[in-house]
Amino acid sequence: MARVLPILLILIAISFPYLNSADRHSHEESILECLYSQNYNNTISQVTFTPTNSSYDSILQFSIKNSRFNTSASPKPVLIVTPDSIPQIQTTILCSKKHKFQIRIRSGGHDYEGLSYTSPDHNSSFLILDLISFRNISIDLAQQTAWIQPAVTTGELYYRIAEKSSTLAFPSGICPTWGTLLRKYGLAADNVLDTRVIDAEGRILDRASMGEDMFWAIRGGGGNTFGIVIAWKIKLVPVPASVTACTVTRTLEQNATEIVHRSTGSAKFKGKSDYVKEPIPISGFEGIWEKLKEVGVQTGGLILASYGGKMSEIPESSIPFPHRAGNIYQVEEVAFWVEDGVEAADGYLNWLRGLYEYMTPYVSKNPREAYANYRDLDIGRNGGGGEGDYRRARSWGSSYYKNNFDRLVRVKTAVDPANFFRNEQSIPPLSSWR
Ligand SMILES: *[C@@H]1O[C@H](CO)[C@@H](O)[C@H](O)[C@H]1NC(C)=O
Ligand SMILES: *[C@@H]1O[C@H](CO)[C@@H](O)[C@H](O)[C@H]1NC(C)=O
Ligand SMILES: *[C@@H]1O[C@H](CO)[C@@H](O)[C@H](O)[C@H]1NC(C)=O
Ligand SMILES: *[C@@H]1O[C@H](CO)[C@@H](O)[C@H](O)[C@H]1NC(C)=O
Ligand SMILES: *[C@@H]1O[C@H](CO)[C@@H](O)[C@H](O)[C@H]1NC(C)=O
Ligand SMILES: *[C@@H]1O[C@H](CO)[C@@H](O)[C@H](O)[C@H]1NC(C)=O
Repeated sequence: MARVLPILLILIAISFPYLNSADRHSHEESILECLYSQNYNNTISQVTFTPTNSSYDSILQFSIKNSRFNTSASPKPVLIVTPDSIPQIQTTILCSKKHKFQIRIRSGGHDYEGLSYTSPDHNSSFLILDLISFRNISIDLAQQTAWIQPAVTTGELYYRIAEKSSTLAFPSGICPTWGTLLRKYGLAADNVLDTRVIDAEGRILDRASMGEDMFWAIRGGGGNTFGIVIAWKIKLVPVPASVTACTVTRTLEQNATEIVHRSTGSAKFKGKSDYVKEPIPISGFEGIWEKLKEVGVQTGGLILASYGGKMSEIPESSIPFPHRAGNIYQVEEVAFWVEDGVEAADGYLNWLRGLYEYMTPYVSKNPREAYANYRDLDIGRNGGGGEGDYRRARSWGSSYYKNNFDRLVRVKTAVDPANFFRNEQSIPPLSSWR
């Protein structure tokens, strides 16, 4: 060991000439030093990007889907690590803890408030652990299951299943053409059988070793809260072999091309959600149209997703997602805009908040329910970069999870009492009760 040490020191000195001058040895440099020295084979240096690296901006922007958080004013990470192996993830966790960096974890999908790659309301340094290289799919036809990694997209999964079988599918989304299987089979999270998670201690856990409480919590209890999911085992579901293809009912004269070739490069976006339990009267819809006309077709919208069927049969406490029996449909209120600047953004945000206010008499109450994956910081947030306060969190937490919130807090308290995994809407541990 004594002989190895000088070699390591030399390597570090070559990689970090600036470390020689103690006065420039910053917080950022300490974590880099930790990452490189912990990962002896040094593979992590090939997937670590600092702001001075010419690829930093493109790596950061690559999977941003909402350009509201793609501005020069958006807080930026001090580092981005794009691991392609599990030891690199473990090293990143241990060094972030040691040097007290917040970690933001993303896998490339939609993120309504950008919490997986930026940190809206505080100044503490954070780094991004970007799981974009964890993108494998392995299908077991005999068992009708698949192991999928977190960066797998819905399209990739459907494609790989269809390559192997015309009678199997997976219910993983509600957008048009992505299949609307939830009334038949429930949510994606209802069809998860097993998992691999790396916890705050860097341990790799599966369903058996984490226990049923944590396995329950990670199926919908919010990102960046319990650990880092590196794989899901999912149950594939049967579908008829001949499914009529989804048809586009627009002619060329009606700009059909725009449907498949619509520019989404630079749209800014905000979404909110509601649950409808009693049919909205016609007069209510007339008022909705008036609101929508205030901003125009390309900007404002309401997306209604039918519930019922299997969704009503699954108990509210089956997984953290509680919006089951009694809901006719879910509403997503949205605003898209392209103009830059705070003033334009405030105009559209205020319009959307006005629409949400207008919806109040027609939607769920006590709590006014909301869908956790359409994350909305308007309904409440943890302060201080996610430090959390149980009593405040209970308010927005009940909207997302209803009576499941307290069980989520208990699991969080058991598996991550120091609140290492956190963001503005992560579940806080009980120790935050004040
Ligand atoms: C280093 O690489 C070797 C060969 O690939 C591997 O056997 C060993 O486990 C690695 N060590 C660490 C600490 O990653
Ligand atoms: C940027 O970082 C990557 C990954 O660490 C590295 O391979 C590359 O050489 C760096 N590029 C520059 C210009 O420093
Ligand atoms: C983010 O900004 C960069 C540079 O301004 C741009 O190239 C990229 O298309 C933007 N991405 C999104 C989703 O706004
Ligand atoms: C963050 O830093 C900026 C500029 O240094 C400062 O104006 C602002 O008050 C700080 N915000 C918080 C929440 O500390
Ligand atoms: C994905 O699968 C390939 C081929 O089996 C393997 O080499 C690679 O390490 C896997 N990637 C991850 C992130 O597991
Ligand atoms: C088709 O697009 C053109 C140009 O954007 C627009 O003027 C026209 O109204 C659109 N037609 C329809 C039917 O949407």
